[in-house]
Amino acid sequence: MNKQEWLEKLSALRNEFEKAAAEKKSSQDIERDFLSKKGGLALLLRDLSAFSIEEKKELGSLGNDFKKKVAEYCAENSSNPVSDKKSDLDITLCGHPYPKGHSHPIIITMEKIISSMNKLGFSLEYGPLAERDYYNFEALNFPPDHPARDMQDTFYLNQKDEKGINYLLRTHTSPVQIRVMQSKKPPLRVISAGKVFRSEAVDASHSFVFHQLEGFCADKNISMSDLKWTLESFIKDMFGSAAKIRFSPSYFPFVEPGAGVEVSCVFCSSSKGKCPVCKGTGWLEMLGAGMIHPEVFKACGYNPDEISGFAFGAGIERFAMLLYGISDMRQLYENDLRILKNL
Ligand code: DAH
Repeated sequence: MNKQEWLEKLSALRNEFEKAAAEKKSSQDIERDFLSKKGGLALLLRDLSAFSIEEKKELGSLGNDFKKKVAEYCAENSSNPVSDKKSDLDITLCGHPYPKGHSHPIIITMEKIISSMNKLGFSLEYGPLAERDYYNFEALNFPPDHPARDMQDTFYLNQKDEKGINYLLRTHTSPVQIRVMQSKKPPLRVISAGKVFRSEAVDASHSFVFHQLEGFCADKNISMSDLKWTLESFIKDMFGSAAKIRFSPSYFPFVEPGAGVEVSCVFCSSSKGKCPVCKGTGWLEMLGAGMIHPEVFKACGYNPDEISGFAFGAGIERFAMLLYGISDMRQLYENDLRILKNL
C-alpha cells in the first residue's frame, strides 16, 4: 500500500464514522467498529509498519487524531447509566440485605476434628470415593468371601478395574491408610475425612451416605499406649478436659488387637441417671481403633517386624450430633433451615 492508498482508506473510515454518527448508532457499536483491536482504524495503523519514519509520523498523527475524535464522540454519547444524567437508575444505592449462610454442621465438625488432629501432628490426606475392591477390602485384610465384608455392604459400579473387579463406592475411609502407606515411607501421622457409602436403610442413626474420620500412625516402636494418649488428647480437645475414654475388645480385620472406644457421656455426669443419649450407661461408643495388622503392613511393602502403628476411625455425624445436641441424624441431611439456622 502506498501513502495515497492509505490516506484514501482513512478518508473512507472517516466517512463511515460520520454516517454511523448521523444514523445515531450506539456508541458501543461505534467503539467496536472503529476502536477495538480488530476495528478498521487499528488495522490501518498496523499497516503503517511498512512506511518510512517520516511517513509514519505524518500518517500516524492523522490516524491518532481520528481515533481521538471517535473516542470523544463515544464518551459523550455513551448510554452507560452512571454517566447518563437522564436515567433514574442510581447504581450507587445500597442493595437489599441478603442473608448470609454458614457452613453445614457436618463440615464445621469435620473442620474442628481436622484442626484438633493437626495440633497433634497429623496431616490431612484424601482418597477417592469410587474405590477399588483392593484398597477398600483386600489390602485391609478382608480377603474375597471374608465374612467381615458383609458388615459393609455397598454400591458397586459398572466400571471394572484391570483385574475385572467392579469399582465400588468406598464403605469406609480406611483405604486411605493403604494409599498413603504405599506411596510414603514411615514415620507417618495421617488423618483423612470424607464421605463413605453403605447399602443401609435410613434411620435416626444410619444413612447410606455418611462421613468418617480415619487416622493412623506408622513408625518404629509404636504401642497401644500411643494410641490411648492420642485419642484421649483428641477427645479432651473436642469435648473438654473432663471427658474420659475407655477401650473394650472389638474386631476389625485390619487391626490386631482391635478395640471399640467409648467416651464418657458429655450430656450426663453420672452413669446411673436416665440420660437419653447414653441410655443411662454414662458411655458413648465413638470410635473403632487398634494396632495395624502385620498383613496390612505387608500389603504396603513395610516390614511388620520393624514398623508398628495404630489406626482409628469414627463417624463424623456422631461427633456433630453430640456437639450440637441433635438426637436424630436425619436432621443433618434434611436441610430444614429452621434447624440448620439455629446450629
Ligand atoms: N473402618 C472401620 C469401619 O468403618 C472403622 C475403623 C475401625 C477404622 C478400627 C480404623 C480402625 O482405622 O482401627 O467400620
